[in-house]
Amino acid sequence: MPNIDNSRVLVIGGAGLVGSHLVDQLTQEPVREIVVLDNFVRGTRANLRQAIQDNRVRVVEGSITDLKLLRDLMEGTDYVFHLAALWLYECVHHPRAALEVNVVGTYNVIETAQQAGVKKVVYSSSASVYGDAVFTPMSEEHPFNNRTMYGATKIAGEQFFRAFYEQHSLDYVGLRYMNIYGPRMDYKGTYVSVIMKILDRIDQGLPPIIFGDGSQSYDFIHVHDVARANILALKSNVTDEFFNIGTGVKTTINELVLLLLKITGCNLQPEYRPQEQMFVTYRVGSTEKAERMLGFRAKIPLEEGLRSVVEWRKKDKQRLRSEVV
Ligand SMILES: NC(=O)c1ccc[n+]([C@@H]2O[C@H](COP(=O)([O-])OP(=O)(O)OC[C@H]3O[C@@H](n4cnc5c(N)ncnc54)[C@H](O)[C@@H]3O)[C@@H](O)[C@H]2O)c1
Repeated sequence: MPNIDNSRVLVIGGAGLVGSHLVDQLTQEPVREIVVLDNFVRGTRANLRQAIQDNRVRVVEGSITDLKLLRDLMEGTDYVFHLAALWLYECVHHPRAALEVNVVGTYNVIETAQQAGVKKVVYSSSASVYGDAVFTPMSEEHPFNNRTMYGATKIAGEQFFRAFYEQHSLDYVGLRYMNIYGPRMDYKGTYVSVIMKILDRIDQGLPPIIFGDGSQSYDFIHVHDVARANILALKSNVTDEFFNIGTGVKTTINELVLLLLKITGCNLQPEYRPQEQMFVTYRVGSTEKAERMLGFRAKIPLEEGLRSVVEWRKKDKQRLRSEVV
């Protein structure tokens, strides 16, 4: 069983949504040092405000495309969490950047980890590798039906981990997350999630827009659960395996909108518009393998989790306003 006591842990992409919560949770562990590598294209220093109060946390600004930097950081590192990636829509609009960061960058992480003798890597993959469900709930055996650049880069990453395990016995676990939400979700950037789009409309006093009939169904998992799954994956004896990380609960967009209207105390009716281009319309994963092999089960119900988002978003907007004044 990997022993993380007194170890040095590198969290790549540690200023982002999942990474920053993971860093917070790691500060509760008896590790010696937590190094965060992030180039802040999406993550923020504000996300790490709490974590940097702990003097075991060190933040390095840099990119996984910088091989020399990675080599230096891997030296003396025991464990790595690799979360850095360009997101779905960035990959649509900037496919070459996606190739450089998600594919070559991931390769750089794996190669330098192996060369430095890192004991285990936890890789953030995605349920995007599956594309639209051909059977449900989707188990880890579901075919790679992906048709997006983003999913293609995650599949490439998974395959590199497999190959390095085969050739060099580099231990790893890959986590295929369903739809993650929670405090610190990006709500100001170019690419924001459906939850933030709905809350934006509600904030403006406008009816939330539902594209299509709202029956599109996803598995929404809270970021605290996802961060916890990362630590369980690191500490487990498991290697060379991929896991769905979700709740197993199907939520339609109609249900999501109704919940957000209820939580915000808003009595607007959603507005239906013709369906736009959708990458997937049905994705709910089986949680059986993660439960059986990692002992992971999501704990936070959607309504409670969404309340945490609404409250955090309100406070964060106030914080930003007070910083401007
Ligand atoms: N959020 C989701 O719903 C979801 C679902 C499935 C998979 N994932 C995957 O999980 C991981 C974490 O997701 P997240 O929601 O926290 O994303 P995020 O964008 O909040 O975090 C990714 C972090 O990586 C950093 N980064 C990007 N390019 C980098 C580079 N070249 N070098 C160093 N750092 C770089 C960003 O600044 C950001 O802080 C990602 O790999 C993502 O693809 C996320």
